[in-house]
Amino acid sequence: MGAADPSRPAVSFPDALSSRQQWLEPFEWYRQMRADSPVRYDPQRDLWDVFRYDDVKYVLDTDSVFSADPTTMPGFETQVADAGDEPPAVFETMLFADPPEHARLRGLVQEFFQPRAIAEQAGQIRELTDSYLEGLENEFDLVSEVAYPIPVDVIAMMLGVPTDDRRQFKQWSDTLIERPSAQTEAALQAYQQRQQAVQQEMSAYFSALIEARRAEPQDDLISAVIDADIERQRLSHRELIGFCTLLLVAGNITTTNLITNAMRCFTSQPRVIDELNAGELSISSAIEEALRYRSPVQAVFRVATEPTELGGRTIPEGTGVVAWLGSANRDERIFDAADEFVADRQPNQHLSFGYGTHYCLGAPLARLEAQIALQSLLERFETFEPLETELQPIRSSFIYGVEAYPVLVS
Ligand code: HEM
Repeated sequence: MGAADPSRPAVSFPDALSSRQQWLEPFEWYRQMRADSPVRYDPQRDLWDVFRYDDVKYVLDTDSVFSADPTTMPGFETQVADAGDEPPAVFETMLFADPPEHARLRGLVQEFFQPRAIAEQAGQIRELTDSYLEGLENEFDLVSEVAYPIPVDVIAMMLGVPTDDRRQFKQWSDTLIERPSAQTEAALQAYQQRQQAVQQEMSAYFSALIEARRAEPQDDLISAVIDADIERQRLSHRELIGFCTLLLVAGNITTTNLITNAMRCFTSQPRVIDELNAGELSISSAIEEALRYRSPVQAVFRVATEPTELGGRTIPEGTGVVAWLGSANRDERIFDAADEFVADRQPNQHLSFGYGTHYCLGAPLARLEAQIALQSLLERFETFEPLETELQPIRSSFIYGVEAYPVLVS
């Protein structure tokens, strides 16, 4: 999040990316920013933006100065108190924790996300994928038929959440990643109310599920995490609710966009599909390049905890900093032909899963899901052609993808 980032400041969207077309292709703006204002203050959002690869990596790798905990921002507690609520449980997760607390929160769950543990899910993910591809022919929307339902089901399956509640999850996670419809006070207020309502509904839902698993453990992630214990340290009830919320949001919309963005990259170069089919190109390198080229998470947020020099500017203490992964991944100082999709690019040191302490816990799962989904699509159909439609970017200020991607297959 990073990926699961429901609470990032609502106003974090720069003016230059406010139109549909700009957010669909932000890359030229990033290029200008890397050249002219690689580290800049934006008075409109009262935030700092960082665009170059080395600087973005430095921000992510320097927890001592760039905190992932939004409560370190002056005024945060007052804002929450004014809203009359306690902070959402998701703030009590690893994503928003700094060392040393971060290590406790991540340490208790990370074994369940190691590549070996994740590989055991492959059979079930394949079955799920087949059930979604079954019956698809001619024309369909890749997002609603394939890229969205698979990750939601996989997380639901792993957590032990009944798949019948899936539709509800989509609505929750869609709302959590939304941005306000306008910058007016009324729109911001409506946005905040929707966010709070959803967080409360999710908390109540997971609270009941956790209680049920405490009473009767099952062979699922929730039961395992309730039981996880390192040196007598466990997750509290609220931390457990936060963890469930985080996985649901971090694990689904990001992977949905990886699958769709990858297909957008592949169909833009039909040779790639031929080479994948002929076994001349590895699907994993093509997915890595899609992660770089159209990164599902374009930006992550930090708070400077002391005055800091970066790119010749001084970022003051207590200000928000947006590290643009999507720009770092196109930095011509690091990547040759950075604005080209090079399906077999090696090496490919993209920052799409973040870097350092908060490096994406779900990266092995996301890669496996994308691989199974894309491979299954390629096995099932010979040709893919995007239908002529006006693509709509999804309504989020840090997640990047399209609302729908209709394709013609044969
Ligand atoms: C293509 C799909 C995905 C992308 C692009 C992605 C991206 C990211 C990024 C950029 C971060 C770092 C955020 C930061 O530094 O603030 C992150 C963290 C995280 N991601 Fe993912 N993610 C993806 C899929 C998943 C999945 C499938 C899961 C879980 C099932 C997941 C769970 C997490 C968690 C728990 C964290 C927090 C890690 C920490 O703070 O230590 N992500 N992700």
